[in-house]
Amino acid sequence: MKILVTGGAGYVGSHAVKRLVAGGHDVWVIDNLVYGHRACVEALGLPAERFIEGDLTERPLVEKLLKENGIEAVMHFAAYAFVNESVTDPAKYYQNNVVGTLSLLEAMRAVGVKNVVFSSTCATYGVPERVPIPEDHPQAPINPYGFTKLVIEHALQDYHHAYGFSYAALRYFNASGAAEDGTIGEDHTPETHLIPLILQVALGQREHITIFGTDYPTPDGSCIRDYIHVDDLADAHLAAIEKLATAGDEGLAIRCNLGTGVGSSVREVIAACEKVTGGPIKTLEGQRREGDPPELVGDPSGAERMLGWRAQRTDIAETVGSAWKWHSAHPDGYGD
Ligand SMILES: NC(=O)c1ccc[n+]([C@@H]2O[C@H](COP(=O)([O-])OP(=O)(O)OC[C@H]3O[C@@H](n4cnc5c(N)ncnc54)[C@H](O)[C@@H]3O)[C@@H](O)[C@H]2O)c1
Repeated sequence: MKILVTGGAGYVGSHAVKRLVAGGHDVWVIDNLVYGHRACVEALGLPAERFIEGDLTERPLVEKLLKENGIEAVMHFAAYAFVNESVTDPAKYYQNNVVGTLSLLEAMRAVGVKNVVFSSTCATYGVPERVPIPEDHPQAPINPYGFTKLVIEHALQDYHHAYGFSYAALRYFNASGAAEDGTIGEDHTPETHLIPLILQVALGQREHITIFGTDYPTPDGSCIRDYIHVDDLADAHLAAIEKLATAGDEGLAIRCNLGTGVGSSVREVIAACEKVTGGPIKTLEGQRREGDPPELVGDPSGAERMLGWRAQRTDIAETVGSAWKWHSAHPDGYGD
């Protein structure tokens, strides 16, 4: 299939590109490199003409890209995803995530490309009423980032209903780990994700890791999250795009969680990092952070039913191990 990947120079998108290419698909990447990395695209080995440095809002460019290359489906990862920044600068998030996506959808509609896989998030659920969280759980985000993703889920449903679009809104839990062969991995600036932050302590780049909240109603008092391996996410995207390709004229609408169904506490993740790196990790105990629910774990059964996919890497030590392979070999990430 001919697939356009937006945000393919970023963390999750690059792992999907690698998987798609390995699966024999023809892939084009568009990324504005605001947070993505040219060195990541180079590591993927894509021919130069398959990477387009550009923004989603450049409508003529996106339309031309879709049309001239006969693109059949879009995987849409491009977004800004710093939750705290979305609270202090919501305009940046509504503009990029919502306006940018609507521009992409309109370009698709103009040239008749109707299949799209969208990176949604467990942040659309807000503070869950029950865990593991099923897909029909109420969606009540507690920050602008989560709202931007929910708005797009609604837009996709409306495009499906009115224009026959087929979409899969994949609600990821905590994307983690790195490619098995160590060629690509996670490099966010600023880094806000737990596993790379802990591994920065192991690398001597950070003094300590703070456990925010030690009095949650969880077995060890720290927050529990569902860490889904980025290669499992990539496999799910492949399953989703292949499923959408089977849709009839009325299109398909898929909304599902991408999680392992297994939670790990902050203390358990630190212990896994100590095991993998072979040394102690200095920790500090801090206050709870506002807006951090005690437990976020996804019910993975919907994805199994709808996509025939389930996570293969459910051992947190394995996920941490792949991240360590990447970070220890690339202590400065992509170095840009
Ligand atoms: N990482 C996670 O744990 C996680 C969890 C849930 C959902 N998500 C979603 O998954 C997607 C990928 O996340 P990630 O961690 O890989 O982020 P990332 O920042 O590494 O990748 C996003 C990429 O999109 C590009 N981009 C952003 N806006 C763009 C625009 N307007 N035009 C062109 N390119 C643009 C960035 O340069 C970057 O390379 C995002 O949509 C994010 O909201 C991520």
